[in-house]
Amino acid sequence: MDKIQEREEFLQKFFGDSNKIAFEQLKQFNELMVRYNCAVREIRTKFEVLNEELSFHTSRNPIESISSRIKSPVSIVNKLARLGKDLSVEAIEENLNDVAGIRVICSFIDDIYKVADMLAKQDDITVIQIKDYIQKPKLNGYRSYHMIVEVPVFFSESKQITRVEIQLRTVAMDFWASLEHQMKYKKSTADRPEISAELKSCAEVIAATDARMQGIRKRIEMLENECSEQKNGGVL
Ligand code: GTP
Ligand code: MG
Repeated sequence: MDKIQEREEFLQKFFGDSNKIAFEQLKQFNELMVRYNCAVREIRTKFEVLNEELSFHTSRNPIESISSRIKSPVSIVNKLARLGKDLSVEAIEENLNDVAGIRVICSFIDDIYKVADMLAKQDDITVIQIKDYIQKPKLNGYRSYHMIVEVPVFFSESKQITRVEIQLRTVAMDFWASLEHQMKYKKSTADRPEISAELKSCAEVIAATDARMQGIRKRIEMLENECSEQKNGGVL
């Protein structure tokens, strides 16, 4: 008996005829999750390559850190139910843009636009959507740059175009978003106006500090350029 036959017999015994369909769906679901995982790795590598190249040229890292996650099966089921969609592998692909998610923490605000633009220009990337919550922060003060992109993943016998949600933030924006999420998650009292106002005010202080830090970096860069021009002028 070969391996496939053996597997079929096992399925027959274990699941019976009716549950075989459920098993096939489970298999398709797992295959889709493998795809999302690989797509996240593709995007992560692209950002790592950009960071390495830019840090070689500028002697500083525009990207501080990268994290990623695949949405849990429970969250996938809940979100499809919230959207009023059927539960199927096709429905996941059609309706959810954030099964594969990657968060890129940048040093300064202009680094976000620089690396986002460099990624968007790569010829295997298709940008599906951009939400610029830095130019236009959310009412609660949330700031980040969100992109939904499609990336091809090459498997042994097929090329699968896969969606990934990318969130780009500065270290300061991430500080606010992480603590706001921790404090507000599933806590109804956190929606009180005085608490929301205080959180928004913190977001504004943080945004102002982000802008000042970028200003300081630019001044240092200008001074460094002036110094090296003077040095070169002296030599010539
Ligand atoms: P979801 O259905 O929650 O995925 O949101 P959406 O489809 O409206 O997309 P959006 O781009 O607005 O937000 C996507 C993700 O950004 C969220 O899942 C969070 O990770 C993050 N995010 C958005 N708004 C906030 C916020 O107010 N606070 C925090 N901490 N994170 C936020
Ligand atoms: Mg989401």
